[in-house]
Order: sequence, then structure tokens, then C-alpha cells
Amino acid sequence: MKSIALFTIMLLLGSLPAHSQKRLTSETEAQKTERLAWWTHDRFGMFIHWGLYALPARHEWVKNHERLTNEDYQQYFDAFNPDLYNPAEWAKMAKAAGMKYAVITTKHHEGFCLFDSKFTDYKSVNTAYGKDLIKEWVEAFRKEGLKIGFYYSLIDWHHPDYTIDSKHPQRVEDAGKYQELNKGKDMNKYREYLHNQVRELLTNYGKIDILWLDFSFPGETGKGNKDWDSEKLIKMVRQLQPGIIINDRLNLEEFADGWDFKTPEQTRVPEWPEVNGSKIPWETCQTFSGSWGYHRDEYSWKDPKQLVSLLIETVSKGGNLLLNVGPTGRGMFDDRAIQSLEAMGNWMKFNSRSVYGCTQAPESFAVPENTLLTYNPSTNRLYVHLLDYPLQTLRLPGYKGKVKYAQFLHDASEIKFSDAKSYMVNGKVMGTNDLKLGLPVTKPHVSIPVIELILE
Ligand code: GLC
Repeated sequence: MKSIALFTIMLLLGSLPAHSQKRLTSETEAQKTERLAWWTHDRFGMFIHWGLYALPARHEWVKNHERLTNEDYQQYFDAFNPDLYNPAEWAKMAKAAGMKYAVITTKHHEGFCLFDSKFTDYKSVNTAYGKDLIKEWVEAFRKEGLKIGFYYSLIDWHHPDYTIDSKHPQRVEDAGKYQELNKGKDMNKYREYLHNQVRELLTNYGKIDILWLDFSFPGETGKGNKDWDSEKLIKMVRQLQPGIIINDRLNLEEFADGWDFKTPEQTRVPEWPEVNGSKIPWETCQTFSGSWGYHRDEYSWKDPKQLVSLLIETVSKGGNLLLNVGPTGRGMFDDRAIQSLEAMGNWMKFNSRSVYGCTQAPESFAVPENTLLTYNPSTNRLYVHLLDYPLQTLRLPGYKGKVKYAQFLHDASEIKFSDAKSYMVNGKVMGTNDLKLGLPVTKPHVSIPVIELILE
């Protein structure tokens, strides 16, 4: 009786923060988990940043970095003609890399629309290419069985009514000057444009699985939920596409359901991120190199092993990885991106079982030296990823009695194990519950070999 009471108190305490927060819908946490189930299972997606900025080829923020005006930027619109664009090829490459969903920029901060919109002329249909790029993309990716995500920039550096702010190409040093500068601009009109375009995107292309809105920077010379009318926007989105999964950049943090997942960008999270003491769904978005848009002269590319370990580490902390490609102005993936995707695919072909459906390992399993652990709760299998291939044995601290069978994942070859010898540290006996895996001397031909432990 006493323990039931204690449990109830703990349960209440644990769920208090979430319940005390405001909500926009009546969805329960369990229903949310169910809605996100496919995404949490799939773990790995492709981000695509494509727009006019592929032509200057020096970062998607080029308009901002170089403080270009609409007139300066017009030359890229005039020259845009991705004659080699073949989204079927892109979709095949994404799938072969092991990616299960993809998110494409339908409009980035530059304001150029890759989709056909009734509300602007600034769109791919009006370029020399003459077509709705998004329509073709959606069809191709769906055909390969990939889930469909739309990125849409809340920020717009082209729309005449979008007020100049601290992140705008025409920004000024003196914050007092913005009022004067923005005379005649009407954010109400921009807001309406933004809502209209999101409605188009979620009405004209069938079922959309993910919406990635980017981004808010509240403050005196910034923009946030009031500027976008985020509450109304998210309600419309949920009404148009009830199953959709939405990122966290609408500045609706005050609502428990103002976002579905967190989006740590280009960083390594130290541990599974939490909000109010609860672990939350998260996805890190990362580039192969330093830029999201095609950047010809950027050379800081991650190598294949770094990429594979980024994916594993993400899953080992309960997250997803959205890995970005910036196609060229001809509509092709960068050669360097193709090679990286192939490397991911080579690893995933034999090791994806340690990624799909996997998550952080239970705390009762210590992490052996130089490894990353993932765990599949439905099959009760633990995956030990060997970042640094050990010499002949690997010690599994405290694993005695927990393992039924062990094998390499890539070739299903048995790995023998036995109880490890204890040892002394500062007069204390250590390792009495350790297991010892016997590994072949030669490292298998896998960038990061994985040992699959079938648990008792
Ligand atoms: C950003 C950037 C950007 C990129 C993105 C991806 O905040 O403005 O160019 O699209 O996030 O996460």
C-alpha cells in the first residue's frame, strides 16, 4: 500500500512540469509518442538545401554575408536553370545511404520558392527551368518509399513587407534606425503570405510527414512567435496534416506541444537532451562540410568514419540524424557528397540493425572502452560499436550473466566469450563480473565494426 502511494507521488511529480505548461491541443504524451513512432524508429534522414544560392556557391547566407540587395541578387534568379535535375537519382542515393526520410528547402531565407505558389512570382516556375521543383521531388522520393519533409523559412530576405531586422542583409548597426528604415513595410502582409504559403505546401502535395520551420530569434531587433503568429500557424498545420511532425523553431517553448522535437544544429550533444527533467525527441542536423547550400570552395569535409560515428553516437543518445546535401546549380549532388553517402551506405548495408529501432542502452550496461552502445528494446539486443579496434579481447564490464550469444553484425560470425579474470586496483579486487570477448586479430573490413549481443 505504502509503495503504491509512493509510486503515485513520484508519477505525479514526474509529470507535473509537462502538465503545468500551457497546451495548444489535447494530445497526450502517449499519443505524441505514437505519432512520432515511425520517425523515432527510422533515425536517419537527408536534409537538402537548395536554392538560388547554389549559383554563387559560397554559402546559403551569401545574401546576408555580403549584404546584397534584391537587385544584386536578381542575377542568380535570371541564371537559374538546373538542367541536370533528376530527383529520382537523389532519392536512390538517399535510400542507398540508409536514409528513411528527407527534408527539402521549399524556400530558404533568400525567399526564392522551389514550389509553385499563387502568392509570389519569385519561384522556380518563373525561371528558365520553368517547373515546380518540389512537385517532382515529392513524387520521386515517395516512389523510393522515403517519408516527405518540407523545410520552410520563416525568415524572408526578398519579400517587400518583411521588415529589416538584425539578421537581414540590409541590417544597420544603430538599432534606433529600424523604425525609419521599415516605413511602409507591413509585417501583417508578410505574415499572411507566410500562412498562405504554408497552407499551399500542406494542401497541394499530398501527405507531408515533417514540417521544418526555420527560425525564430526573438528580441527587439529580431522576430518570434508574435511576428509569425506561430500559435495560429501551428494550429493550421495540425489541422491540414494531423499526423505531421514539427520542429521546434516557432518560438512556442511556453507550450508543452508547441514543438515535437528539438533540433541541435551542428553540435555534439553531451547526453540525451531533456526538458523539465524528461528526455525529449531530438534530431541533430549536420552538414558534410561547413555549409548547407552548395559551397564550391569549402574543404572541411568530415571523413566517412566521422560520419558513421556521428550517426551511431546520435542513436546512442536517443536521437535522429538529418544529414545535409547542398546540390549544385545544375541540380546535381556534389561529388564529395556522393562519396560520403556511398560510405554511409556501405556501412548501413551491413550494420543498420544497430540503428533502426534502436536507442540509448539501459544504464545497467556500462560502456566498454572506445565503444558506443545502442540498444533495441523490442529485440532485446545490445550493439557494441568498436570505434578503435582492440587487440584480440574486449572487456565488457559487469556483463557476466547478461549475454546469451555474441556475433559480429556485418557477417553474423560468432564471437566467443568467457568470464574475464579479476584484477587489483589500489588493493581492491575489480572486474569480478566482467565478460571477455575473443576477437580476431585482423580488423574486419568495416569502418566501425559492430558486435551484436543477444541478451538473456
Ligand atoms: C539555420 C540556418 C540555415 C540552415 C539551418 C539548418 O539556422 O539559418 O541556413 O538552414 O539552420 O538547421
